[in-house]
Amino acid sequence: MLELKHISYSVREGDEQMDILKDISLTIDDHKLVVFTGPNGGGKTTLAKIIMGLVTPTSGQILWNGQDVTDLTITERARLGISYGFQQPPRFKGLTVRDLLTLASGDEKLSKDKCCQYLTRVGLCANDYLEREVDVSLSGGEVKRIEIASILARNSQLMIFDEPEAGIDLWSFARLTETFEQIHRTGKATMIIISHQERIISLADEVIVVGDGTIRHRGAAADILPQILADTLGGCPVLTKEVKA
Ligand SMILES: Nc1ncnc2c1ncn2[C@@H]1O[C@H](COP(=O)(O)OP(=O)(O)OP(=O)(O)O)[C@@H](O)[C@H]1O
Ligand SMILES: [Mg+2]
Repeated sequence: MLELKHISYSVREGDEQMDILKDISLTIDDHKLVVFTGPNGGGKTTLAKIIMGLVTPTSGQILWNGQDVTDLTITERARLGISYGFQQPPRFKGLTVRDLLTLASGDEKLSKDKCCQYLTRVGLCANDYLEREVDVSLSGGEVKRIEIASILARNSQLMIFDEPEAGIDLWSFARLTETFEQIHRTGKATMIIISHQERIISLADEVIVVGDGTIRHRGAAADILPQILADTLGGCPVLTKEVKA
């Protein structure tokens, strides 16, 4: 179980303090699929990075399976079974896709077959990619899918995906949503997926709308989705007003 208690995060810009997350408290039970959604700049990625240990909260506490992990490093949290896939994945010159999957899995002798299974789940063919370097020669969508495959290889108890749909074509997206559904069905992991996609939101046991550094709404997808759609229509005059020719 993941528990966030009164998490706040502020930064200083000159004389001004910017409050990016404001007193967020949240519990996520094991094997749930929870989607964080909400407007750009609302604080979703910052919250995910705080859970992974990439950002240190200004105040508050994070408990993972009852253990206080607030002061633990990224590596220590990874060892405890937490993994995070970046919204914009880093590239690693000199490291091949096979190396990345091997490192992620922790199995020095990871077979080609196993690598192939991970890559297939994100719509990539192992033969084309295994020996490629994870460098700038890969397209945005390719590097994103390889990053997601490496999270699958890590096989963590808590997997956090930051906008896995970003830059991914329709065919691979369909494969990816199947993969999320399958992990969820088999109860292998708890998943937090940050997403703006209706298809992914509809998979969630619970949807948490993060806006302006707070939790604006939370509830079942069936209840929250219509509210989000109504909100977006209400918030944008271009979508609600008739345009006269
Ligand atoms: N270190 C920082 N210094 C200044 N501002 C920051 C810092 N980190 C985050 N922010 C700001 O905090 C806000 C929340 O950022 P965050 O990346 O968490 O948003 P998000 O909900 O993931 O948005 P998106 O949907 O666009 O990915 C943004 O306005 C961002 O510019
Ligand atoms: Mg983000």
